[in-house]
Amino acid sequence: MVPTLPPLVLYTSIVALVIYCLLNLRTLLFNRHSSHNPLPPGPKPWPIIGNLPHLGTIPHHSLAAMAQTYGPLMHLRLGFVHVVVACSADVAAQFLKTHDSKFSNRPPNSGAKHVAYNYQDLVFAPYGPRWRMLRKICAVHLFSAKALDDFRHVRQEEVGVLVRGLAGAGEKAAPLGQFLNVCATNALGRVMLGKRVFSYGTSAGAGDPKADEFKDMVVELMTLAGVFNFGDFIPALEPLDLQGVAKKMKKLHARFDSFLNQILEEHQISGSHGGDAGNSNNVDLLSTLLSLKDVVDSEGGKLNDTEIKALLLNLFTAGTDTTSSTVEWAIAEVLRNPKVLAQARKELDSVIGPDQDGLEVENLNMDEAYGLTLQRAVPLMVHPSPRLAQQVYDA
Ligand code: HEM
Repeated sequence: MVPTLPPLVLYTSIVALVIYCLLNLRTLLFNRHSSHNPLPPGPKPWPIIGNLPHLGTIPHHSLAAMAQTYGPLMHLRLGFVHVVVACSADVAAQFLKTHDSKFSNRPPNSGAKHVAYNYQDLVFAPYGPRWRMLRKICAVHLFSAKALDDFRHVRQEEVGVLVRGLAGAGEKAAPLGQFLNVCATNALGRVMLGKRVFSYGTSAGAGDPKADEFKDMVVELMTLAGVFNFGDFIPALEPLDLQGVAKKMKKLHARFDSFLNQILEEHQISGSHGGDAGNSNNVDLLSTLLSLKDVVDSEGGKLNDTEIKALLLNLFTAGTDTTSSTVEWAIAEVLRNPKVLAQARKELDSVIGPDQDGLEVENLNMDEAYGLTLQRAVPLMVHPSPRLAQQVYDA
């Protein structure tokens, strides 16, 4: 949960002020601005806490309002961290397309340290040979057109299970979010591990208590990643962990690590090489990763167990709740809008026909459905998220 800003800001500012003054008196007095790079305009920062109070309780609203005054490229100082905000599509494209390679690192943060195996994953690895190796593995084995085609039947079968589970609920309310999450996690599990993560109970996976626990873990990770951790912005506060964020992250990491160790052990014992993939060309991602442990790549890199677990962690957390929440949100929006619902029904009837007895989901051409095509494209795109340009902050 994001804490209410003003009282916390006051409390942290006092502690930070004392510690910072003690540790950095000389710099504070004599070296007020060490950066030689000109910065874009922005609101005047407060001492120590910088522009944190300007963010308010709804930061994206506050940023949009500030952009009206300072323009689409703004500078803020959040605690001790200089941040440049792109507030228009054109300016964002400059960072994410034109100068992408210069802004491809991510700022240091407690989540990367405590949860993502101390930056040994793909999401937080600094740009360099290891990031390129992990990214290439994903591009070839998960996201390439060939990989998507090879595993098409997996997605179709899992959607089939989902649809049958929903139909089986009849008139009773079905836990749609849970069903969708199980569907996304099992489809990803079959591509990554060669097997489903959750077994099926009476309905589409909702019977497996592991499913609840896994979703809880992913949601907790998302929640913790969204907490504004003062230690990330005011270095003197980091060791104090005033909000208890680092403590919670370490606990969550231990849960994920035990889940991933179990997966690795089971996979090594069963020696799965993609039997679930249904095609001898298809090898599950984990088998590929394990085989790469002994191979030196073209840039001299070799995978170890920690990097493998970190990558699985990334993919399971990046690819499950994101996908299922997006579909859940889209369905909720359709239900709220009777005209769109009627149009969707009409389109479905024109493809499936009004008589749905004997419907085999596997036989439908899912590629014709716009939503599913979009889902497939999402992981290939570059989305906006904090980026770090090393040379800007070197001073
Ligand atoms: C609706 C679904 C999804 C949404 C909204 C979403 C959103 C995002 C966003 C905002 C980023 C940050 C991009 C950046 O900073 O450049 C990202 C990165 C990433 N996503 Fe997704 N994603 C989705 C589905 C998936 C799926 C299905 C997978 C994998 C199976 C996936 C794997 C990743 C990975 C590995 C990264 C990190 C890439 C890197 O740092 O090099 N995502 N995603």
